[in-house]
Amino acid sequence: MAIVKQYKGLLEAALAAAETAHAPYSNFHVGASVLSSEGEIFSGANVESASYSLTLCAERVAIFKAVTSGHKKFTALAVTADDKKIPFPCGACLQVYSEFVNLNAPIFVREASKKKWHQFTLGQLLTKPFSFKKNK
Ligand code: THU
Repeated sequence: MAIVKQYKGLLEAALAAAETAHAPYSNFHVGASVLSSEGEIFSGANVESASYSLTLCAERVAIFKAVTSGHKKFTALAVTADDKKIPFPCGACLQVYSEFVNLNAPIFVREASKKKWHQFTLGQLLTKPFSFKKNK
């Protein structure tokens, strides 16, 4: 798929971020980046811990960096990893992304073996995000 020019910087940022992963346990290096509606790019990588369950995924690092820099509206997310399989974001990261975008928001994932990006929407990867509306 030919990815439109407007996302070139986003995809490059995800690739660069993967180099910063701290993944001594899995040796699985993930890079992610989000594009804010103001046009700013925030990227992150997975950060693992010897206490395994404390590990944070690359996508959430990128999203949390953006949010804590004052950006809560995103137009796209990109994810890459050094793996043969396409690194689809985990459910937890999709849920977090859904907090800030609608189901049409694009997600780019890179097939490293073919050096090829694929485009999906959040709604294709997470059909029913959790949300609640409490009765008053
Ligand atoms: N990981 C991510 O960074 N993103 C995901 O969506 C799923 C998994 C990381 C966490 C851990 O460091 C490694 O991949 C293996 O699970």
